Amino acid sequence: MKEEFPNLFLCDHPLLQHKLSLLRDKDTSSKDFRELVSEIANLIAYEATRDLPLRDQEVETPICKTTTKVIAGKKLAIIPILRAGLGMVDGVLTLIPAAKVGHVGLFRDPETKLPVTYYCKFPKDISERDAIILDPMLATGGSSIACIDLLKKAGVKNIKFMCILAAPEGVKALLEAHPDVKIFCSSLDERLNEHAYIVPGLGDAGDRIFGTK
Ligand code: PRP
Ligand code: URA
Repeated sequence: MKEEFPNLFLCDHPLLQHKLSLLRDKDTSSKDFRELVSEIANLIAYEATRDLPLRDQEVETPICKTTTKVIAGKKLAIIPILRAGLGMVDGVLTLIPAAKVGHVGLFRDPETKLPVTYYCKFPKDISERDAIILDPMLATGGSSIACIDLLKKAGVKNIKFMCILAAPEGVKALLEAHPDVKIFCSSLDERLNEHAYIVPGLGDAGDRIFGTK
């Protein structure tokens, strides 16, 4: 898989895989589903931020002065894709509380399966920030590609995409359109079905988070 998709990073920590099994279960309640999405996002964010640059800082401990490490480099923005990406925001902000949050509203047209953009609001200084896009589902790739297009148009150079489940079709499409983007994900599933839903998947992420079905 690494050879086929060099920019796909699968986060397979046992705790994450356990939570993912609960998330897939059709009998998991909306309340539990929301909590699990947030917890899984937190664990994936831990991996997605592994390469954050550090700089030295002088600190005086109760014992002596020493040189320690703190996060350096560019500031971050997280960009949830509405609606389902909203479920991942708190879990990521717990790790990166200073990140600013932009929003992109996209839905898949049920007939064409193509993304329709209905909202876009980025922090003013977005072009000076690195961005991490949040969306639990990477299916055909249409929504993620449209969101990356918007960020690049706004001047963002360094973009990561975090999802919970991905289909091979979506990973291929995203990495063909944007080979510079790294994808962080907890499972690469088998395929898409005839409705462009991920198999085995978890169903409609937005509906399960917000209880709209
Ligand atoms: C879902 C999901 C992604 C998109 C993925 O959103 O949260 O944004 O589908 O599919 P794609 O890779 O084929 O574009 P949906 O369109 O159902 O909107 P919602 O979150 O508002 O329910
Ligand atoms: N969007 C979802 O919410 N689920 C899928 O399986 C595909 C797209």
